[in-house]
Amino acid sequence: MDPVMLKGLKKSRSPYVYVLTLAALVLPMTAQAMPWSWDMYKQPTHKAQTEEALPLPEGTVPTKGKLSMKDRDAAATLKNTVQPTSESIARGREVYNIYCSLCHGKTGVGDGIVGEKFITPADLTDEYIQTKPDGDIYYTITNGGLAVMPMQGDAIEPVDRWNVVNYIKHVLSQKK
Ligand code: HEC
Repeated sequence: MDPVMLKGLKKSRSPYVYVLTLAALVLPMTAQAMPWSWDMYKQPTHKAQTEEALPLPEGTVPTKGKLSMKDRDAAATLKNTVQPTSESIARGREVYNIYCSLCHGKTGVGDGIVGEKFITPADLTDEYIQTKPDGDIYYTITNGGLAVMPMQGDAIEPVDRWNVVNYIKHVLSQKK
């Protein structure tokens, strides 16, 4: 070490240095012993296997396993349970703009800001998509695309997935 710095260090070795060093060593231990280190554990939660499971809150979307269909082929036969009313389409537009437009673009042609950097997304106005059964698009939203599109079933409720399908089929179909 530089002799000048060493001299400086030696000079500063007053009792404060020892007190501060001791405090630095002891403080973390004290902090751990305080109630906040175990109050997350000792909260009034439901402990596994002690009582009957609590009922799920309304609107809960399961995140594990297949939702309502075995595979894409089975999903193609699903019936769109949501009529394409103007309310459904308005809601579909809202959900689409939040979850899909970043990749597929506002008009569905695949020019979203993420889509441009990512692998080119499918053009949703294309005949290929427009002639797909509603259930197939519903499946894509739930479980992801054929290659890289991420699944969104954990984020979008079933009714909103149908609303997005209605938006794709009734509004984006007319964009070309
Ligand atoms: C992170 C970017 C990204 C997001 C977000 C995204 N997509 Fe995609 N999507 C893609 C890409 C890339 C493909 C083409 C490759 C594939 O199928 O995985 C695709 C493909 C598709 C297809 C065609 C799948 C097929 O059968 O060939 C549909 C339908 C679709 N997306 C709908 C949607 C809808 C609806 C949303 C919003 C709920 C959405 N996507 C959100 C990137 C995205």
